[in-house]
Amino acid sequence: EAARRGAFSSRRVFILAAIGSAVGLGNIWRFPYVAYENGGGAFILPYLIALLTAGIPFLFLDYALGHRNRGSAPLSFARLRKGTEFLGWWQVGICAIIAIYYAAIIGWSMRYMFFSVDKAWGSDPEKFFGGEFLSAADPSAGVTFDFVPGILVPLLVVWVVVIAIMALGVQKGVGATSVIFIPVLLLAFVALVVQALLLPGATEGLNALFTPNWSALKDTAVWAAAFGQIFFSLSIGFGIMITYSSYVGRRTDMTGSGLVVGFANSGFELLCGIGVFSALGFMAQASGVQVGDVASGGIGLAFIAFPAIISQAPAGGLIGVLFFASLILAGLTSLVSILEVVISAVRDKFEMSRVGATAVVALPIAVVSVLLFSTTSALTVLDIMDNFINKFGILLVAVVSMLVIAWALRALPALARHLNRYGSIPVRGWWVALISVVTPAVLALILVKELRDTAAETYGGYPDWMVAVFGWGVAAAVVVVGVLVTLVRWRPDTPLTVPEDE
Ligand code: PHE
Ligand code: NA
Repeated sequence: EAARRGAFSSRRVFILAAIGSAVGLGNIWRFPYVAYENGGGAFILPYLIALLTAGIPFLFLDYALGHRNRGSAPLSFARLRKGTEFLGWWQVGICAIIAIYYAAIIGWSMRYMFFSVDKAWGSDPEKFFGGEFLSAADPSAGVTFDFVPGILVPLLVVWVVVIAIMALGVQKGVGATSVIFIPVLLLAFVALVVQALLLPGATEGLNALFTPNWSALKDTAVWAAAFGQIFFSLSIGFGIMITYSSYVGRRTDMTGSGLVVGFANSGFELLCGIGVFSALGFMAQASGVQVGDVASGGIGLAFIAFPAIISQAPAGGLIGVLFFASLILAGLTSLVSILEVVISAVRDKFEMSRVGATAVVALPIAVVSVLLFSTTSALTVLDIMDNFINKFGILLVAVVSMLVIAWALRALPALARHLNRYGSIPVRGWWVALISVVTPAVLALILVKELRDTAAETYGGYPDWMVAVFGWGVAAAVVVVGVLVTLVRWRPDTPLTVPEDE
């Protein structure tokens, strides 16, 4: 079966692929700002606690599911207990949605890498981004989906590259991409951090990021932010880690690998914090304001604040190329992992070749992505989809699956036994306690808080129907499609029993 499904050639390739998925836009543009907003240096404490009590244990759970049951997310769940297959398809649906907009951000980064060379954004990067570049429609003035050619070409390039990678298969496509891209990413980013540290004002930026605000620890929102960042950042609960671990040889130390992946991701995150805040410190000093006035995260940081820094900094063009190249490399390896969840699941369930499944899965996603995101409403759609799928997709499916596995199936002892066969970190009662009580409780609290906030007012002040369609609608559609696919029969040569662990 391994020959048909595909496999990583070694533990090293698996670890690099897992790091490739984990290290993404979340490290570069999400972590620095989340840390800054939530207590700065003091954030390290809740962050580390979240990593050790929830992130790594949850990573172990995903590894145990995929490595023991040797299947994509739906197959691994089905092999745990037939009635839980749906949970896997729910994750598959979430990944299909994320792929639609993740590609757009990589496409934008490609254009901006070239823009950096001659600072094509001129003197007002903010106006340029929404105006000349995206021709973004003001959603309150009526929604339009007019064609914007400037985004079309890079978006097509992203999809052609990614579809080629996916068609090459698990080792030659997914594995090789990370084996090549992750070291390049590390080199590019270290070079960027060195440049940024040399900028005047860098120390101010680092002080702003790392000065601890200990009173933040009393704020539950800070703890929620720490756990949220860890789950997103480690790519857990998406089905990605289940899928990847099903491609690893049976006698592999999965728990030791998990620690490597977890600490590599967090280490890179810290490096991103240093690089980003050094640059923001420069920016603040150059414009004579406080770091807090220029600090931002997400799209604003990458496509507005960084262009401004690139325009003013010595060797700004180099900083720009390194920064956007890092976004592209980090984003591509994550996009590949998201698509692999879908392709792997489709191939486990239906009889299809690798290339056939790639076409059936990636082409429709690419078409929707290109149609939606080369329009004047790209920015609005992206913001809504990202917000809803993160909260009511990933968080919800994570809570439900942990509760089902721990309480309905009582499967944790068997999964722990599996991890301990070849694992170097002994998994014992502490793990069972964390996965069955602590982690789901924390996740449920975060989820309830998010639900309350979102129900209180229309998200982002966008038109109601847009939030209904691209937010709630998409989140619900994923569930409905998941149920329908669950009802379809498995290909006859995929047994739903756990393969013998020889
Ligand atoms: N873990 C990735 C990051 O930190 C994000 C990601 C989300 C990756 C979804 C894959 C799927 O950016
Ligand atoms: Na990450």
